[in-house]
Amino acid sequence: MSVSVSAPGKAFLIGEYAVLEGAPSIVTAVDVRAIAHAAREDLRPTASSVVQCAHRRALDYLEAGGDQVVEGVPVVDTGPFYVGQRKLGLGSSAAVTAAVVGYHLAAHGLDPQDPEVQRDVLDLAMAAHAEAQGGGGSGGDVAAAVLGGTLRFEQGKGTPVTPLPGLHLAFVDSGYAAITSDLVRRVREAEKAQPARYAAAMAVLGEAARAFIDAFVLGEGEDPATVGPERLAERFAAIRHAVARHNEGLELLQALAGAPFITPQIATILHEADAAGLTAKPSGASGGDLVVVMSPDRSALERLGERLRREHGLVLRTDLVAGAQGLRAEQRLPTNSRLAGFFKLSVEQRRAAVAASTGLSLDRLAELDAGSFDVARANHMIENVVGTLELPLAIATNFRINGRDFLVPMCVEEASVVAAASNAAKMIRAGGGFSAHSDPAWMIAQVQLVPAEGEVPEDGTAAGAAAAAIREAAPRLLALADTAHPRLLIRGGGAREIEVRPVDRAMVVVHVLVDCQDAMGANLLNTVAETVAPELEAITGWQAGLRILSNLSDRRCAHVSARIPPEALVGKGFTGPQVVDGIVSASRFAELDPYRATTHNKGIMNGVDAVVLATGNDWRAMEASAHAFAARGGRYGPLAVWRKGEDGWLEGAMSLPAAVGVVGGATRTHPVARLALEILGCGSGAELGQVMAAAGLASNLAALRALATEGIQRGHMSLHARSVALGAGARGHEVEALARALVEDGEIKAERAAELLEQLRAGRSEPETES
Ligand code: MEV
Repeated sequence: MSVSVSAPGKAFLIGEYAVLEGAPSIVTAVDVRAIAHAAREDLRPTASSVVQCAHRRALDYLEAGGDQVVEGVPVVDTGPFYVGQRKLGLGSSAAVTAAVVGYHLAAHGLDPQDPEVQRDVLDLAMAAHAEAQGGGGSGGDVAAAVLGGTLRFEQGKGTPVTPLPGLHLAFVDSGYAAITSDLVRRVREAEKAQPARYAAAMAVLGEAARAFIDAFVLGEGEDPATVGPERLAERFAAIRHAVARHNEGLELLQALAGAPFITPQIATILHEADAAGLTAKPSGASGGDLVVVMSPDRSALERLGERLRREHGLVLRTDLVAGAQGLRAEQRLPTNSRLAGFFKLSVEQRRAAVAASTGLSLDRLAELDAGSFDVARANHMIENVVGTLELPLAIATNFRINGRDFLVPMCVEEASVVAAASNAAKMIRAGGGFSAHSDPAWMIAQVQLVPAEGEVPEDGTAAGAAAAAIREAAPRLLALADTAHPRLLIRGGGAREIEVRPVDRAMVVVHVLVDCQDAMGANLLNTVAETVAPELEAITGWQAGLRILSNLSDRRCAHVSARIPPEALVGKGFTGPQVVDGIVSASRFAELDPYRATTHNKGIMNGVDAVVLATGNDWRAMEASAHAFAARGGRYGPLAVWRKGEDGWLEGAMSLPAAVGVVGGATRTHPVARLALEILGCGSGAELGQVMAAAGLASNLAALRALATEGIQRGHMSLHARSVALGAGARGHEVEALARALVEDGEIKAERAAELLEQLRAGRSEPETES
């Protein structure tokens, strides 16, 4: 097996800048990874100075130990560090350095997870990184990339620490990239020009870092179990105070250096976090990039994320998990979804290409053969089984989401859906690919409450009183809801909130919001509803009616967007700007007219449902939710909208309720669904939801581009002609030739195809058509 080694990014939690003056800092590894692997035909190494320095240091080390090094410079994938074309400040160059050194050592049989090997990698990577960057950095980023976890970093040395249990961290993307080198340069200039003011600002930052560390780090011998709610609240208050002090120090530095550390977006995040009783600070150089938010209460953090998105268009990145594993060997290489000419290959060749691109074995792909899902299995899945229904499973290419490539399995009976999605994904790729993020996996379990039999309230007073009593009992109800699924708690999920809605004088509806993590959650929510119902009856004296999930999963959306340069849209006799205008006008049409919006959304669901089906998820739930969501404003509207950006680029965005999972249900029991998930390589339900939304947005773009230019029929006809040609028995190069002839002929029928194929085989290079 070929070697592949990855290293995580990093984020400073406190002490950035002050660490350069000798103060302690806390740095945590963040689970976006740089992956180093051997170059291959389709992927060549870049000659970046960081890669070169790390490569050379590793070689010198190995050769000094008597090893003969034969492998060349590796390829390093850093896609996950990007949002569209913008790189997030998560220490990608340190992760690259660590991954390259780790790759070489692993290629010589050393285990990159072994602490002793990591010590050597750390020394080499520190030296290589300092050389490539010309010195100046603290080295905290390299330490996090190699060692992982959360570290106290001071005087060039990182020591693992245990963070305060019960404190939740999340990162908000400020929407702009910080230009770290420029900020650091300005700080250095200020230091020279005004040393006393500089020292005063640094003293504030250093003092804040020490106070933060005292509250944040669990002391040696301190038992995590002793940190109950009171201790947590106390220590959080100290953290909040220290963070406020840090932000004051930053403001001093900002005034001194004349550098915009606290941008308007960062100020908004700090303000909103503070108003919610939480605390936030820029992570890293500031002036852009990420803001770290801390909270002793996970739902409060998730609610803040929702507010930031709705009110300010700012994204809380739930996928950026702190305390990530350090250097490690990877079982799987990063997928390359740019498989040019994939559609021209035979089925066997396509399987080989998918195997090569994903690292799955060809044997594994043989499970795609008809019959792998047999009647016996089907008989265990539903009742009264008499057989199975086979549908085509295809792979859409070119998808790149948050810097990662995906080969997207699609199961659909309609011709042109897969080709259109692949084609549009290629156009979107030209603009950096899709950007996506997800809400936390909050789903709603509903309990309907009605007055005891025979009672008919005259007005809403009784309903109001019942609602008030339930709100009062919310903490107890949440704890009760959590007893329904202890395993969900271990996975980080659980009941988050109680919402009460008196919908009539004689009906109160209770929502238990549950974070379902990577499960779709239907069974789980139904159990929660049934668990809390008797308690709700006891609290209110009312009777429980229905106890069931709501399929309107509007709190669990995948949000996806794309920017496309006009040049990528050129074609069919239209210039790029003409196509942009046409698509924007098509979007307006859907926004103004529900009749068009329905068809617009049908085109989106072409892509979405095909992935939902391929991965064994519940497409009825997806459909019900998507259309209810499309009507959330009281009027049915388009799920995706398109606009022209100031630079003339086309900009599309969509939010899609995505109640989908990667565990449970048919995702596990159907062998092809399981394989489809493996081909995708999605690590979470949230990521799978993003892929589905991306497939939907791509399908929409393809449809609107065709409709706004030559119309949909021409493209459809040529694809239809290809499938008729295949049906007539055409093989290899015959397929394209016969399809072309059928389109020219205008009669795309099986009998005509058989006639034309005969002519083709009779020795003519192209068959004769009537036109
Ligand atoms: C056909 O399956 C889907 C379209 O009608 C979508 C649209 O009109 O946007 C082409």
